[in-house]
Amino acid sequence: MKVTVFGIGYVGLVQAAVLAEVGHEVVCVDINAERVEKLNQGIIPIYEPGLTPLVTNNFQAGRLRFTTDAAFGVEHGLIQFIAVGTPPDEDGSADLQYVLAVAKTIATHMNSPKVVIDKSTVPVGTADKVKQQISTVLTERAVDIPFDVVSNPEFLKEGAAVADCMRPDRIIIGTYNEQPIDVVRELYEPFNRNHDKMIFMDVRSAELTKYAANCMLATKISFMNEMANLAELLGADIEAVRKGIGSDPRIGYHFIYPGCGYGGSCFPKDVQALIRTSAQNGYTPKILQAVEAVNNKQKYKLPTLVKKHFGDDLTGKTFAVWGLSFKPNTDDMREASSRVLIEELWAAGAKVHAYDPQAMEETQRIYGVRSDFVLCGTKEAALQEADALIICTEWQQFKAPDFDFLKQQLKTPVVFDGRNLFDPERLKQKGLQYYAIGRGQSVLQF
Ligand SMILES: NC(=O)c1ccc[n+]([C@@H]2O[C@H](COP(=O)([O-])OP(=O)(O)OC[C@H]3O[C@@H](n4cnc5c(N)ncnc54)[C@H](O)[C@@H]3O)[C@@H](O)[C@H]2O)c1
Repeated sequence: MKVTVFGIGYVGLVQAAVLAEVGHEVVCVDINAERVEKLNQGIIPIYEPGLTPLVTNNFQAGRLRFTTDAAFGVEHGLIQFIAVGTPPDEDGSADLQYVLAVAKTIATHMNSPKVVIDKSTVPVGTADKVKQQISTVLTERAVDIPFDVVSNPEFLKEGAAVADCMRPDRIIIGTYNEQPIDVVRELYEPFNRNHDKMIFMDVRSAELTKYAANCMLATKISFMNEMANLAELLGADIEAVRKGIGSDPRIGYHFIYPGCGYGGSCFPKDVQALIRTSAQNGYTPKILQAVEAVNNKQKYKLPTLVKKHFGDDLTGKTFAVWGLSFKPNTDDMREASSRVLIEELWAAGAKVHAYDPQAMEETQRIYGVRSDFVLCGTKEAALQEADALIICTEWQQFKAPDFDFLKQQLKTPVVFDGRNLFDPERLKQKGLQYYAIGRGQSVLQF
């Protein structure tokens, strides 16, 4: 099938590459000329496991093309994906300007019937706006070309995006009528062979499904962080509690890790956007408000522990920070907890020596060159001259460090762990003082 994807970000690029891999002919359109140029030179602008060979192979096979030429893109595909960003507006609601700009572009250039599929995360009612936008432009052009608008929210996880798109758990399709169903079925047929993963519903329900999913996951995290804070006060160990409740199949082990707060491009903005949508409809979403408040506070957990140990004035101190991306296996720094930590350390007068396996280029782009900030080539290099180690992201390579070496390198043997990676007893035996999340210091280890 001929497919066009507007927006070559984490969602658009991965989805386009996966669709090309199964044989569809995909043209990607982006307004970011530098990004398009790089992709045409074989340079992949984002880090996702497995993405580079997928893009390269399909690009070389001619099934995946990149352009800034919107007219060409519109002409190419029967299917037109909208996969552009929906960042938070000043009041927290989703900014729809990019989505509506694409709708306008499609309407301006289309000369044949189109199925417009919205993959961006958008508030309920956006498909109506997209439909309206296209109709208005077609009327202005005095042409009558049939088109359908479909809501098809994306559920991929950054860090596992290729695998998620190749083997989706579910494919949510919101439509106004039965018209586009056959086309969408044919498009996703290669991903639907094991069993039927397609769930059809009305457009508004599809739009809300995406927000409900992200808000539920964010709720699980904030709930566990609240339990962790309580565990600390009560002298309990949240890791024991986590295993204890995870064993209940009604609760399960997924997404109940306590930590230094959730970040990324989705949870913070989607929780905020649903709060905003609720308010616009006269409803006070108390659970969502609490989820956001708990998370915002939790991001200050690590700097608070550091100041508890070293005092409020950190002038003259240097901290090794392991992990900058908002989660492992990505270079995405959007709303990362590490940013709150680093900025708090700087504000208190400290220097930061940081290491991340993938996000250092992005961190450099955000913070530029500063005398109180060194990006180090290895995790070991970050320890040199550091007073203590702080772990922000649970990359695999941080999970079994040489504790003797660590102790030898640090000026004071202290580890602050925002992801509960280690056994407190082992660190104690190694002579390291260990601060983690929700782990009562007096708790027996079994
Ligand atoms: N990142 C995720 O894990 C994830 C997961 C599920 C859903 N989503 C949703 O998918 C959408 C896209 O997210 P993302 O992380 O891929 O965004 P992104 O910021 O990585 O990429 C968006 C791309 O759209 C391009 N763009 C903007 N306006 C354009 C236009 N008029 N024409 C063509 N291209 C244009 C930008 O230049 C950019 O390259 C968002 O709504 C997001 O909430 C994201």
